[in-house]
Parts: sequence; C-alpha cells; structure tokens
Amino acid sequence: MKRVLVATGGGDCPGLNAVIRAIVKRAAQERDWEIIGSIQSFDGILREPTEIRVLDERAVAGIHVQGGTIIGTTNKGGPFAWPVKNKDGSWTSVDRSDEMIRKLQYLGIDAVISIGGDGSQKISQDLFEKGLNIIGVPKTIDNDLSATDFTFGFQTAVQIATEAVDKLVTTAASHNRVLILEVMGRYAGWIALHAAIAGGAEVCLIPEIPYDTQKVLAKLNSRYDKGKGNAIVVIAEGAVPVGGSLTSEQSDEVGYNNLRLGGVAHKLMHDLKNAGFEADMRETVLGHLQRGGSPIAYDRILATQFGVKAFEMVLEGKFGEMVAYRHPDIISVPLIDAINKPNFVDPTSDLLKTARGIGISFGD
Ligand code: F6P
Repeated sequence: MKRVLVATGGGDCPGLNAVIRAIVKRAAQERDWEIIGSIQSFDGILREPTEIRVLDERAVAGIHVQGGTIIGTTNKGGPFAWPVKNKDGSWTSVDRSDEMIRKLQYLGIDAVISIGGDGSQKISQDLFEKGLNIIGVPKTIDNDLSATDFTFGFQTAVQIATEAVDKLVTTAASHNRVLILEVMGRYAGWIALHAAIAGGAEVCLIPEIPYDTQKVLAKLNSRYDKGKGNAIVVIAEGAVPVGGSLTSEQSDEVGYNNLRLGGVAHKLMHDLKNAGFEADMRETVLGHLQRGGSPIAYDRILATQFGVKAFEMVLEGKFGEMVAYRHPDIISVPLIDAINKPNFVDPTSDLLKTARGIGISFGD
C-alpha cells in the first residue's frame, strides 16, 4: 500500500474540497493507494496525538459542492515556525520540519500534496529541499500567483463581490448615495477589478494604481446633478492613495505573521468628506463572505482538474513541482518559479483598458 498525505494550508477558499475529492477519486483508479488527510494543514502531523484521517471515496462523496475544507486549515505557524510558549508567557517559534519529515516516514507516507497559497507553497519548497516528496496545488481567492492563469476560488469570490455590487446599486440609487465596497485580494486588485467591471462600478481602486483622492472626488461629483445621483466605488483592501501607505494592523494572534489589511473603505469615506464631498456615503466591508460557501461551477471544475493532475504528478514522481493552469492546459511548474513572482494587475493590460473604456475611474 502506498500513501499520499493531503494538507490544506493558509486561508480557506471555495474549491478546496473539490480538489480533495478529485485526488481521492483519481487515486481510487490505481491499485493500492491510500489518501490520508492531515488535519489543519501540517499541524495534524505535528500534534500529539497525530490528527489524520483516511480519505476514501465514501469520505469525499459529494463534498465538491461544499465550501471550506473537510480537513481544516490554518494560516498560523507551520513546521518551520511552530509557536511555543515561554515560561514568562511570551511566545517563540521553533523549527520542527525535520521532526515532521521523520514522522511522515514513520507513518509510511510516500508523497505529500500540499494545497495552499504563496505562504504554503514556500513551505512546500522548503520541505522539498529537505528531501520530502511534495507536490503543490495553488489556491487563493486573491489570484496572485503568476505561474497559473487562475487559482480556484477566485471566480467564486468575484461572483460574491459582484452580487454585492448589484445589491448596492439599488440602494445607492434609492438614497442618492455613494456606496463604497471594500473587497479582499491582499496586494493584488484582481477581485476589485473583476467585480467593478461585472457590477458596473464607477470607481475602482486597486493596489497596482495608487489613487488621487481629488480625482476620485471629481469622478463622484460628475455623477451628481443638484444633489441627485449615485455611485459605487469598489476598493481593494490593499489600495493606497498616492504618497500614502497600506491601511493595516499587526495581528496579535499567536503564530500569525501576516499583516491584517482592512479599513480602506472607511478611510476613503473620511478622506472624501474632508475633501468636500457632500453626498451621503456608506461603506460595506465584504470580508470573509468572499471565502465562504459553495464554489461556483467554474471553480469546481478547475479544482477538480488540479486534484486529478496532482495525483498524476505523484504517479509520475514530479516532486518539487506545482500544478498550474495555462489555458487550455493543466501543467506542472517548478515550485521555486511559482513562489518567486506574484501576479499583479498590469495597468497596461486589456482588462484595464476595457474598464477604462466603460468609464471606470481608477483615481489616477
Ligand atoms: O489570502 C486570502 C485572504 O482572504 C486575503 O484576501 C485577506 O487579506 C486574508 O486572506 C485574510 O486573512 P484572515 O483569514 O487571516 O483574516
């Protein structure tokens, strides 16, 4: 019997369960393969007692429609930075990667499939360099990995954000208001850009194009005549004004090393007010709604393609590589290349031209 360990790491994302199901169903077509799920990413291996579960076809039946991940996830700590509490109550981190690799050998694991975003794939690369047979599957709603045309979960997030814009349009029109929608995406403006085009926003502010508050103000004023009018602004959580900085805070959660982005809609609303904008404004922060619930069909299909490919890469021994989508093919690329170059919106791209072509202002 050969064993593949599957782990989902980082923030969750619609489609994770569809990947898990596809791995299990593809493996079931081969003789003598067992798929094991590690609970909450690699924490399941590092914990005592070990937290793992066998994933057979019965365990994954019908899960492709479910959001989240049936084996849990975490975006804290990890094998290279495991949080440990000091006697004085403070926290430090220790490298438990060698211990984890030994434990995987003891458990008879022949290969690992790690489903995760940039942070998780950096861990995959480091484990590969230590000799682990590991394959990466990219996931993130942010779509910020350059090695793949799209990550699963992104289109679902765009759909949710677009539905939010659609709803805001009707209430903005009723009240003659400007409604500002803050969406996720970290340092990439993909969700904001797609939702702004699909939903018909007037202003879209993304990290890749620092905005000038005066230009945003001018665009919004152009939408009003004698106090009557309305507008929708979609702003990415990583958007910055010209000469300004990220709106963020350091988290005090143990083992959480990411900056927590958020608050850009609130900041913009106040900056516009201070700049003299007179109409009523309200902010909506879409937050984790963008990551929850059932994946749309597109993401189920992409996730399923990734899962099947990942297991086939195990069969082919393509370790140290990551599944990627290069239209129309599902390919594999070296993990090291995948983690080195983020995928940001290109301000000169056709998609940006399309947005400008329908009058969307980027505040530049
Ligand atoms: O990377 C996915 C993402 O949802 C980002 O868009 C967002 O900034 C971050 O994760 C939020 O992380 P958390 O779930 O830790 O709040």
